[in-house]
Amino acid sequence: MELYRQVAIEVKRLIEQGALRAGERVPSVRKLSRQQKVSVSTVLQAYLLLENGGLIEARPQSGYYVRTRARALPPEPVMSSPSGTATSVEKGELIVDLFKAETTPGTVRLGCAYTGPSLFPVAGLNRAMVRVMKQLGDDANSYELPPGNLNLRRQIARRSLELGRSLDPNGIVITVGGMEALNLCLRAVARAGDTVAIESPTYFGILQVLESMGMKALEIPTHPREGISLDALAVAVRKNKIRAVISMTNGHNPLGSYMPDEKKKQLVALLARVDVPLIEDDVYGDLYFGERRPRTAWSYDRKGLVLLCSSFSKSLSPGYRVGWTVPGPRFQARVENLKFMSTIATATLPQAAVAEFLSDGGYERHLRRIRRTLATQVELLTDGIQKHFPAGTRVTRPQGGFVVWVEMPRALDAFELRKRALKEKISIAPGPIFSAKEKYRNFIRLNCGLPWTSEVERAVITIGQLARDMAKK
Ligand SMILES: Cc1ncc(COP(=O)(O)O)c(C=O)c1O
Repeated sequence: MELYRQVAIEVKRLIEQGALRAGERVPSVRKLSRQQKVSVSTVLQAYLLLENGGLIEARPQSGYYVRTRARALPPEPVMSSPSGTATSVEKGELIVDLFKAETTPGTVRLGCAYTGPSLFPVAGLNRAMVRVMKQLGDDANSYELPPGNLNLRRQIARRSLELGRSLDPNGIVITVGGMEALNLCLRAVARAGDTVAIESPTYFGILQVLESMGMKALEIPTHPREGISLDALAVAVRKNKIRAVISMTNGHNPLGSYMPDEKKKQLVALLARVDVPLIEDDVYGDLYFGERRPRTAWSYDRKGLVLLCSSFSKSLSPGYRVGWTVPGPRFQARVENLKFMSTIATATLPQAAVAEFLSDGGYERHLRRIRRTLATQVELLTDGIQKHFPAGTRVTRPQGGFVVWVEMPRALDAFELRKRALKEKISIAPGPIFSAKEKYRNFIRLNCGLPWTSEVERAVITIGQLARDMAKK
């Protein structure tokens, strides 16, 4: 094959695999000629070939860019409209069952928000773990009492300008994943019988936290791209005695929305007026697809009313179970006390290993890589839904993270679809587990965290086929 064709194939592969995305500049002619050790005219010929194929375009005095494919995207779901009354939460074993089905060997895991291990820096984390085991010696076996590993808190604080405001390491409490952070913060601000306002749909873990504490959920209308409706929330706080609000401002699960920064500011101002705490779940905050990290609502807080929760589960490793919270001066002592009362401490070694990994400097590079990969996987899975699901299906357009929320025709029952999909060894998450009132019967959430293999593609085709069969009946 001619040399220029080989070069063109390499560049085409970068585009197809998502390393180079629509609108991004491809390497300059000179740079590529140096990298590939070929002449400038060979690269020019390769770029001409790609240009003629519609993959890249030349922009005067600027270079070559990946063409923005005019993708015909499926329509989005509209703003949700839950009923305006608070309810107790009773999910029972439904969600644990979902996790168990996921881990049955041979199941294609489209039900849980999980990325394959290929996206985690496993080797780097292993090396960090070995180093800290040596450094800590006997201390590796002692309790790391709340607020947790100081080195890790320093590393988190070092990255805090990205969150929109600098953070004092002493204001951070390390937790067992984001889930413990949510648990502790909620217990710090509310008690059994209280009403908590949540987004609708919401992450089922939030419903489980409310259920375990005997609190009531008040579901608030939520926009698929811009998050919770402030108008509806303003009415809700006027009409109800709301103890706290929980919001996934950045990387909503299952919607994939990132609330605009200006709206976060308004949200904080609204809750400050009525003195209601906001528990901000920022677990997907680092996995945005845009140019820069969106700020947190916490960064606008001047009254100590925002309790920020996050974790390394989605970006580094869920198995390490390392999360953190910034409860603010009003609630920190209470959160630390509750932490001690519930688990005494977070495991010593994983905290130290994550700190070591962060201090090594490869984290930002790792994040850049997985953001690109996840954006591509979301795109491919959305294309799959577009091609294979019944007419009338709607899909969210996540701005980060790795789940999509799929609305199918009304008559379709997500539990029945899940049953049929499980027979084909595919797991999916049925919509009603994302609502206290079991809404969203015709919705499912699909995980885009797995590498796009032929097995995953076949699974999407199969779900689409099952859904089409059900829709026909
Ligand atoms: C929005 C959201 N918050 C919190 C969690 C829990 O995070 P962790 O695994 O760190 O406990 C998850 C996990 O899926 C999540 O999606």
